[in-house]
Amino acid sequence: MLDKNFLWGGAVAANQYEGAWNVDGKGISVADVMTKGSVNQPRQITDDVLHHQEYPNHLGIDFYHHYQEEIKLMAEMGFKCFRLSIAWSRIFPHGDEDKPNEAGLAFYDRVFAECWKYQMEPVVTLSHFEMPFYLAKHYGGWRNRKMIDFFLKFATTCFQRYQSKVKYWMTFNEINNLIDTDDPFNAWTGAGVLYQEDENVEQTMYQISHYQFVASALAVQAAKKISADNQVGCMLHFGPIYPASSQPLDQMASVKAMDRRFFFSDVQVRGAYPDYVKQLWKRHHLQLDITADDLATLHRGCVDYIGFSYYKSSVAEFDSKTDFKEKPNPHVSKSDWGWAIDPVGLRYILNVAYERYQKPLFIVENGLGAYDKLENNQVNDDYRIQYLQAHVVQMLKAIELDGVQVLGYTPWAAIDIVSASTGEMAKRYGLIYVNLPEVQQGKAGIYRKKSFAWYQKVIATNGECL
Ligand code: BG6
Repeated sequence: MLDKNFLWGGAVAANQYEGAWNVDGKGISVADVMTKGSVNQPRQITDDVLHHQEYPNHLGIDFYHHYQEEIKLMAEMGFKCFRLSIAWSRIFPHGDEDKPNEAGLAFYDRVFAECWKYQMEPVVTLSHFEMPFYLAKHYGGWRNRKMIDFFLKFATTCFQRYQSKVKYWMTFNEINNLIDTDDPFNAWTGAGVLYQEDENVEQTMYQISHYQFVASALAVQAAKKISADNQVGCMLHFGPIYPASSQPLDQMASVKAMDRRFFFSDVQVRGAYPDYVKQLWKRHHLQLDITADDLATLHRGCVDYIGFSYYKSSVAEFDSKTDFKEKPNPHVSKSDWGWAIDPVGLRYILNVAYERYQKPLFIVENGLGAYDKLENNQVNDDYRIQYLQAHVVQMLKAIELDGVQVLGYTPWAAIDIVSASTGEMAKRYGLIYVNLPEVQQGKAGIYRKKSFAWYQKVIATNGECL
């Protein structure tokens, strides 16, 4: 039997659904210069907002103007919580201002009030693939130590303003995506950085990560000072990378692959750098700007819980040059975008992460991106129900059989929004369907999918009826 306070809900991110990209004083964000892509065509990052380009995040689903109708539907589903993020560039349009933008702050006052109207607890990510474009362009993004102060100011402003409305916070969404330096998407959305051809990318990546760790640890301390009730978590992408075979070298490859994924939570949960990474820095002769004060800050700013996304698993095969090569998992099926579907992987990662940290875990993203069809105002997304049901079953096993402490479950996504990786609206995750042509005409254009009713029942029975 699940705890009665278990936080069932749904998740979204500001840049993917708010729209109103230049309304009420909002500045341009790094997501506002990303064009539309597809499963075969990566999104382009342009040097500014260019008139001949299409930028899907500019409109999103226009939550900014329809938040009341949308939150009402989430409440109808029975959401106990709503995971959303605050657009940094709405609060500090350039990022280096002395004073925040009052209109931006007031928008979230309205959103949080709407949530509480239905007793829905907001769970807030401070930086979810969105930071002021100005900071990326004029300061070099998180390459620059000054970012720590800018972020802390943004975080503190939010903690102060929303102290009676928000208790659950997360600092950086999927901070560990930074480790995958091959895809420019990761450093751009996560840190406002585009790597140069002639730079030591590995060194820059560890430096960026360090500044974010320090900023996150300072934010944890600031949040606690403002209210002892505040709970601040990290947020990681936790896809298991299993050994490709029972060969000892593949087993070792999996350990090394998972160390790279866990490196970020190791620092944010334990407050210190793990030995394996210190050895790696030595071997690779990396020179990092890490001060004694920084290390003390990390130690004092450990997170309270671990938020994570779970979508897919993969496998690691031994490779003599790089320790491991990550490959697709041949034992599981795939979504239309090639993402592995592996419900047992959720129970697996819950166990592994809980054994590693003994801290509460919060599944803040899990879901299926699919092509949905609206016919006669209905969407029969049985495939999504099947996906979510299979994952909830595994989550319940982790809680009830394995004793893992899980705070809540917020599937991705509460409502259809723009896909982060492809910029498409066609890659839908929501329990609520959004008809974009209607949104373009100024309407909300929202419809309950079949999964809406299914999830409503799950929440009403606290997971008893799946
Ligand atoms: C997570 C992100 O990586 O995956 C979300 O935190 C994102 O922002 C989600 O939308 C699904 O990815 P995508 O690319 O299919 O939208």
